Amino acid sequence: MKRMTRVALVTSGGDCQGLNAAIRGIGKTLFEKLDNVEIYGMYDGYRGLIEGDYKFMEPRDFSGILTQGGTILGTSRQRYIPGKDIVDENGNSLLPDMLQTYNRLNLDCLVIMGGNGTQKSAKLIADHGMNVITLPKTIDNDIFGTDTTFGFQSAVDIATNVIDYIHSTASSHGRIFVVELMGRDAGWLTLSAGVSSGADVILIPEIPYDIHKVAELIENRRRKGRGFSIVACAEGAVAKDETVLDEEESRRKKESTLYPTVSYAIAAQLEKITGMEARVTVPGHYQRGGPPCPYDRALATQFGTAAAELIINREYGRMVAVQNGAITSIPLEEAASKTKFLPVDHPMIQVARSIGISFGD
Ligand code: F6P
Repeated sequence: MKRMTRVALVTSGGDCQGLNAAIRGIGKTLFEKLDNVEIYGMYDGYRGLIEGDYKFMEPRDFSGILTQGGTILGTSRQRYIPGKDIVDENGNSLLPDMLQTYNRLNLDCLVIMGGNGTQKSAKLIADHGMNVITLPKTIDNDIFGTDTTFGFQSAVDIATNVIDYIHSTASSHGRIFVVELMGRDAGWLTLSAGVSSGADVILIPEIPYDIHKVAELIENRRRKGRGFSIVACAEGAVAKDETVLDEEESRRKKESTLYPTVSYAIAAQLEKITGMEARVTVPGHYQRGGPPCPYDRALATQFGTAAAELIINREYGRMVAVQNGAITSIPLEEAASKTKFLPVDHPMIQVARSIGISFGD
C-alpha cells in the first residue's frame, strides 16, 4: 500500500480572480499523480484551520471551477502581529488551534494561497511546526520574489475597461475624472491600467504628488484643446506635503478630512485650481470580482501544478513563483521578508513619462 498524502487547502485574505483555477490545478495534479491522497478544503481561510471547519474534497470538487471568480472555499482576514503572532480579538494566539487541526487530520502539508500579508503569516505557521507551501495571489502584484501574481492581470483588464468607458463621458462633458484604483501600498495596478487606458495622470503611493503639478498638466491639455483629463489614482496615493508628517500628525489629518478617500480630495482641489468640473469614479471591489482572464487561468493552473509537484517531492517552506517567465519556487522566508513596491525607475514608468503622462512630481 502506497503511503497516504494528506493536504489541506487554504485561501486567505482578500480574494481575487484565479483562486479556483489554482485550487483545481493542485487537486487535479495530485489525484492524477498520487495513488493515495486526501485533500481537505478549509472553509474561510485560517478560520477553517483554527476551528477545524473543512470539506473533504473529492476529484469532482475540482471540476467546473476554472472560470469561477472568488474562492469556492471562502476566505477571511485574521489579525496578524507582524513577525510575532496570529491572534483573535482578545489578543490570544490562534497558532495552537491551527496546529491542533493540522495534527488531528495528520496532514503532510498546508497549501496557503494568499497575498503579501498571508505570505508573512504563513511563515509564522511554518515556524510553528507545520509544513507549508504558498501560492502568490493578489490584484496588487506586491509579493516579493515573483514577477507577477494571479489576479493582477484580471484586475488590470477590469480597471482598464473602467477608464476606457470613463473616457467617452469625460470627453463629452469636458470634465476631469479621477478614477480610484485599488492598491494601498503599491502602484502596480494603477500604473498598468493607467498606461493601458491612456490616462493623462497616474498617481501611485511610490511617487508622492504635488497637486499643482497635476493641475498644470490638465491646464496645458486644455490650452491645447483637450477639454477633459483622466487621473488614474491609486487608493494609497499620497501628497508630497503629507510625506513630511509624523505618524500622529498623519492620523489627525486623516481623521479631520472631509473626504471619504484620496480621490475626492484630489477632485475637489483640482476643481478649485482649474475651475473645471471634476468627478470621481471608484470601481472598488469590482476589480477583484468576476471570472479570471485567460492569462490568470493559465498562470494559476501553472502555480497549482507546481505546488502539487512540491507536495509530491516533499519540498516544504516554499512559495511558488514566476521569474523571467519560468515557474519556480523560492524559500517562504524570502517571500515573506518584504513588500514588492513599484521601483520609481521601472521601465513602464519611463515609458509613461516618455508619452507625456504626469506622475504629479
Ligand atoms: O490586497 C488586495 C486589496 O484588494 C487591496 O488592493 C485593497 O486595498 C484591499 O485588498 C481591500 O481589502 P478589503 O477587501 O478587506 O476591503
